[in-house]
Amino acid sequence: MLKKDFLWGGATAANQFEGGYQEGGRGLATSDTKTNGSLTRKRKHSFLNDNNEIIYLHESEFISHDYQATLDPNMYYPSHKAVDFYHHYREDIALMAEMGFKCYRMSLSWTRIFPNGNEDEPNEEGLKFYENVFDECLKYGIQPVVTLNHFDMPVYLAQHQDGWLSRNTIECFLKYCQTVFERYKGKVKYWMTFNEINLLRGYATLGIHEMNTQKYYQALHHLFIASAKAVQLGHEIDPNNQIGMMLANILTYSETCNPKDVELELNVSRRLKYFFSDVQCRGYYPSYVLKLLERENIQIIKEENDDQILKDGCVDYIGFSYYNSGVVTTRKDAGMSLGNGINMAQNPYLKESEWKWPIDPTGLRISLNILWDRYQKPLFIVENGLGADDKVEKDGSIHDDYRIDYMRDHIIEMKKAVEEDGVNLMGYTPWGCIDLVSAGTGEMKKRYGMIYVDMDDEGNGTLERSKKDSFYWYKKVILSHGEDL
Ligand code: BG6
Repeated sequence: MLKKDFLWGGATAANQFEGGYQEGGRGLATSDTKTNGSLTRKRKHSFLNDNNEIIYLHESEFISHDYQATLDPNMYYPSHKAVDFYHHYREDIALMAEMGFKCYRMSLSWTRIFPNGNEDEPNEEGLKFYENVFDECLKYGIQPVVTLNHFDMPVYLAQHQDGWLSRNTIECFLKYCQTVFERYKGKVKYWMTFNEINLLRGYATLGIHEMNTQKYYQALHHLFIASAKAVQLGHEIDPNNQIGMMLANILTYSETCNPKDVELELNVSRRLKYFFSDVQCRGYYPSYVLKLLERENIQIIKEENDDQILKDGCVDYIGFSYYNSGVVTTRKDAGMSLGNGINMAQNPYLKESEWKWPIDPTGLRISLNILWDRYQKPLFIVENGLGADDKVEKDGSIHDDYRIDYMRDHIIEMKKAVEEDGVNLMGYTPWGCIDLVSAGTGEMKKRYGMIYVDMDDEGNGTLERSKKDSFYWYKKVILSHGEDL
């Protein structure tokens, strides 16, 4: 059986869901400069360069979109309105309560609280907005699960100090953390530091203008320190706080039993994921990364106390997203599948979504087991789901049986990991429980929700919310504690 207090719920992020980008004194965030058309990512599926050396996984994504200091009035920026949770939060939380949510995972917009990121005093209106949201959740017995930073940062910090490249950004971030830990003490217990820390890349997420490998590792070090210090701070302010990391858990398979493929898969999985969870769960850089940095002549500037900070700031649990697995191969002519954050070779045994993401429920059970074996820390599936282009029938109904199938199959495997393998799992919050803007493509039509939002890719629509078939199905699942699938 799943734990009695298992956290069934759903997940969103401010920059894709909240809107109200200029309201309540909010400052401009880097995510506000992403247009709906500038997000096409250039990715490769091969991990080897022409000399057959493993390449940096982030290399092809360093510049994921052109950065802008000023907005173009002729362009559409999806985050500005998103689906307007800012004005719909009461209605949205009531719908979540109707589904029986025990928790709601959301992120805070840093610039709603510190508009430029470096003010002496926080913006009270921003703090009040989230306080209202939390009170609304608690009214229904829904626990907020809060991501401190999900794919954005203050434009001011990006423009003035190259975002996370600057050590000073750590202090700005910690001030923001201290403010929210103190203000929401007793209302929020579950926190996560950086969303999908292993997928952060260019300007939008790190605030860095001209990225290269040296800068990437330096910025990453600052993120690790910021996260570790936030964990310590959160514990000092309220010992009840549970503060997790958030990993994009992209499961990798070796295409063949050729030792060269297997070796490549080992290296890819380490660079893609385990490096990040190793640092945040064990509190130090793993030897395979230290050797890599040495080989590549990358020098991270550290302060004297940094190693101790990492040690003292290990996370309490691992929150992770799981959408798909991928295949790693030394072959360069393999067909390509897309996927969350990274493209890999095609897997002939799996079906793919409309967006060409492989669908692999068994991979969820495998992932849960690997993470549990490796770290022995509680796990929390904080994102999972199927992006699909839903059709609204004439009577307004939406028959998303494909989404129900996807979720059912994943929940079955999740339960096996708990009930048959003994994995310690805290909860399950499917992504975009109410339709929101896609992070990867800027589209609205790539929908994950159990609640439909009337809006298209250009921002036209009434924003009216309606229930899909999956709404009623998930409600039943929660009510039966995962027994009636
Ligand atoms: C994760 C992110 O990468 O996957 C979310 O944490 C994102 O922000 C989700 O929306 C799904 O990806 P996409 O590209 O389909 O929106």
